[in-house]
Amino acid sequence: MFASRTGWALAPNRFSAALERHGAAGREALDLTESNPTCCGFAYDPGLLSTLADRRGLAYDPHPKGLRAAREAVCGYYQQHGAKVDPEQVILTASTSEGYSFIFRLLCEPGDGVLVPAPSYPLFEFLASIQDVKLVSYPLIYDHGWQIDLHSLSEALTTRTRAILVVHPNNPTSSFVKPAEMEIVHSICQERELALVADEVFLDYAHDGLARPSFARPRQALTFTLSGISKICALPQMKLAWIVTSGAPELAREAMARLEVIADTYLSLSTPVQLALPEFLARREGIQRQVKERVAANLAELDRQLAEKESVRRLDIEGGWYAVLRVPATRPDEELAIDLLEQHSVIVHPGHFYDFPREGHLVVSLITLADVFAEGIRRVMGNF
Ligand SMILES: Cc1ncc(COP(=O)(O)O)c(C=O)c1O
Repeated sequence: MFASRTGWALAPNRFSAALERHGAAGREALDLTESNPTCCGFAYDPGLLSTLADRRGLAYDPHPKGLRAAREAVCGYYQQHGAKVDPEQVILTASTSEGYSFIFRLLCEPGDGVLVPAPSYPLFEFLASIQDVKLVSYPLIYDHGWQIDLHSLSEALTTRTRAILVVHPNNPTSSFVKPAEMEIVHSICQERELALVADEVFLDYAHDGLARPSFARPRQALTFTLSGISKICALPQMKLAWIVTSGAPELAREAMARLEVIADTYLSLSTPVQLALPEFLARREGIQRQVKERVAANLAELDRQLAEKESVRRLDIEGGWYAVLRVPATRPDEELAIDLLEQHSVIVHPGHFYDFPREGHLVVSLITLADVFAEGIRRVMGNF
């Protein structure tokens, strides 16, 4: 009765099953994977909600690309990043996940391939399979920081490849795409007539405070830059994201015309949230400051505890909300994570969730409440 693309193994994996058992037994746990900013004790500006009460929100006058004023606010965001974007290049979506689905629909016949980095964000597998897209991973290698393995990326290209996806900075490796890598990936896409898809949801969270260039710049390769307010404004519940299309003008125009039809079919955004977007973006500094302070404090605590522990290290971090711990690879990461939960009541993610190529990696969220983070890390360290 069901399409084969939905034939997922729905039984919980061993780690999720352990989490369920732990919860069912009424046992508390320190959750070092909390990455929902609305659960992390940040003080949101109470005025944010009143922006949703704009009376214009009572009228329904949809535009497939999204309300013009909201798209202009997105252009303002890129202007602050030194990129000139026109509202005609912007399509609003309910989430970056929805943005991915539109782009995959636009570019791929069933079975076509999209190259994605590994390690990276685990949701890509589902986003692709629901659209009948085949994900092919290209490795990021950790050698004096994270680098794209450009040789392997080139080797992974086939006649069925439609796009190369980059995450800037990546989750969970936290690495930005370096300017030289940007150039090469652009050239490959242009030469092979592939699209470049750049996920920049964490772009504003560089640990050194230095702004990195956005992919939303006029270049020849057809480029889709994705972002949204779930990370930029720490408002995932508001459900607003966007795609910026750039590239050779004729190609970009054609892509936008087709994307507009896809967006028009769903019209998935609510009017009040679009009306509120200019205010959400204008007020993002306040929440970003809190997130950055939390990340910096947790990172300092992590480093303080690591200084006393020979056998555990963290990998270099450039941006975003995650840290990767390098622990002794004496057994599978999943087994280790289950042990940490059952023996020490602390939740961390095993590296293989993110497609790390070998054992010995644990991933923690740096926006976790500071006292939970400090005690949780103490428990993790106590295990080695
Ligand atoms: C790299 C990356 N892209 C996209 C998202 C999700 O964004 P959205 O809430 O807009 O779908 C996440 C969420 O963690 C992410 O890590």
